[in-house]
Amino acid sequence: MSTSTESYNDKVVTQMAVATVIWGVIGMAVGVFIAAQLYWPALNFDIPWLSYGRLRPLHTNGVIFAFGATALMATSYYVVQRTCHVRLFSDRLAAFTFWGWQAVLVAAVITLPLGITQSKEYAELEWPIDILITVVWVAYAVVFFGTIVKRRIPHIYVANWFYGAFIIAIAVLHIGNNLVMPASLWKSYPIYSGAVDALVQWWYGHNAVGFLLTTGFLGMMYYFVPKQVQRPIYSYRLSIVHFWALIGIYMWAGPHHLLYTALPDWVQSVGMVFSLILLAPSWGGALNGILTLTGVWHKLRTDPILKFLIVAISFYMIATFEGPMMSIKTVNSLSHYTDWTVGHVHAGALGWIAMITVGSLYALFPRLFGAPAMHSTKAVDWHFWIHTVGVVLYIASMWIAGVMQGLMWRATNPDGTLTYAFVEALNSTYPYYLGRLCGGLLVLAGMLLMVWNMWKTWQAGSRAAVPVIAPAVDHAEGATP
Ligand code: HEM
Ligand code: HEM
Repeated sequence: MSTSTESYNDKVVTQMAVATVIWGVIGMAVGVFIAAQLYWPALNFDIPWLSYGRLRPLHTNGVIFAFGATALMATSYYVVQRTCHVRLFSDRLAAFTFWGWQAVLVAAVITLPLGITQSKEYAELEWPIDILITVVWVAYAVVFFGTIVKRRIPHIYVANWFYGAFIIAIAVLHIGNNLVMPASLWKSYPIYSGAVDALVQWWYGHNAVGFLLTTGFLGMMYYFVPKQVQRPIYSYRLSIVHFWALIGIYMWAGPHHLLYTALPDWVQSVGMVFSLILLAPSWGGALNGILTLTGVWHKLRTDPILKFLIVAISFYMIATFEGPMMSIKTVNSLSHYTDWTVGHVHAGALGWIAMITVGSLYALFPRLFGAPAMHSTKAVDWHFWIHTVGVVLYIASMWIAGVMQGLMWRATNPDGTLTYAFVEALNSTYPYYLGRLCGGLLVLAGMLLMVWNMWKTWQAGSRAAVPVIAPAVDHAEGATP
């Protein structure tokens, strides 16, 4: 079915897509700054709100909730309209989700440097902001599922299953982990305590990874990869198996963050076993995305957007191989507390999340701005290479640093004393911190190139001012029964 974009609400998609890039630059710039602080600690200038402990959560919130979640909102609104052949359920509510979410993010930018925090990783924001998040998220769910309810075609395309699971899971996790007793306007205490608090926190933390940083972005993959390749997804049946296997297994793997802690041993083993099983659906889904290129691999040579999307999936495979390995207790006894974990995180974050987002946004911007293509395809290609080199530099530095730290910390002399003092391991890590900083700077430079290209494409689109007509065949729907 061909539909004029005027029947879709693309205003909110555009706002969110542009905001994603801006937040990406901010979040990653803070990442670069804290990476520099780890090399030059004096960069906090003795100012409390520039201290590492306050800026680190600003980075994680900035990249996960500002860059990542805004990208998911933008693309889910775009995809759900195209695959349901209907306008968003409510324009006003959709506008509220954009402005409400931006208010949450601005509140985070103000409160975190002030040191206002619940001290729970990835759930630092205090209770008044948590309430606003809940309200915005419920509105988001109403817009998304409302659109699905009023769809014009009976089938629900698989990308929407992934987006839908992400929306529901994040609601449950957010409410579950943020049940607190307010002590004042900006201070609260969790209703849980001790090991139970830790378990709830990592049930949340792990599934924020599983459902926000994975499931939501798989929704993106299932729409934008077939769309860019102009072919249906490799196996629609596999995508359904992938979906149910992934969401069935993810929820049980959280205890791998708490190995060798006060958590009962059997709970730790359950987390480890489910993490190992998770490798299968993760790779099954990734291969489904990559094999969509079967027969048209040559497109990778000429289409830098496709390069972003496919290399993103490759990094996803790296992270989801590495993760199960790190869940094995004996491996975790080496990797835990070291920079290996940070390397794993950024293989997923910079390799998978940032690349699938950047690729999808490059595919989206010309359509949103009414331009024939991105202003400069060459700049997209440059961005791809700068980003890829940056990520490899980042994660390779952290992997080497991490394994080195783990080995130095556990090395003992024949008489049982430690071979190395902690500071010796720290000194040996410094060159790798510099390597990570260089990698981060490259990634940030690529994002700035994207801002320029986005701006130029917008200018070209507003000069042309020709309404874009959606293609007659939507290839992301090509495989729907
Ligand atoms: C220019 C790019 C980036 C740079 C330079 C950077 C740098 C950093 C640094 C220095 C840390 C602290 C590590 C530590 O405490 O030892 C960190 C943590 C983290 N970053 Fe990034 N980052 C970047 C991009 C991203 C992106 C795009 C994401 C997510 C989409 C992300 C997610 C995270 C997470 C989840 C953590 C916490 C890791 C943990 O607790 O183990 N980062 N980053
Ligand atoms: C099969 C999939 C995966 C498994 C089994 C897995 C497993 C693990 C393990 C064992 C750790 C270290 C826990 C510790 O020692 O503290 C970890 C940390 C982490 N992983 Fe994964 N991982 C997977 C995929 C991913 C992906 C795709 C991302 C996306 C960005 C990701 C993000 C993270 C983050 C942010 C942390 C750090 C959490 C923290 O301590 O703050 N993981 N993961």
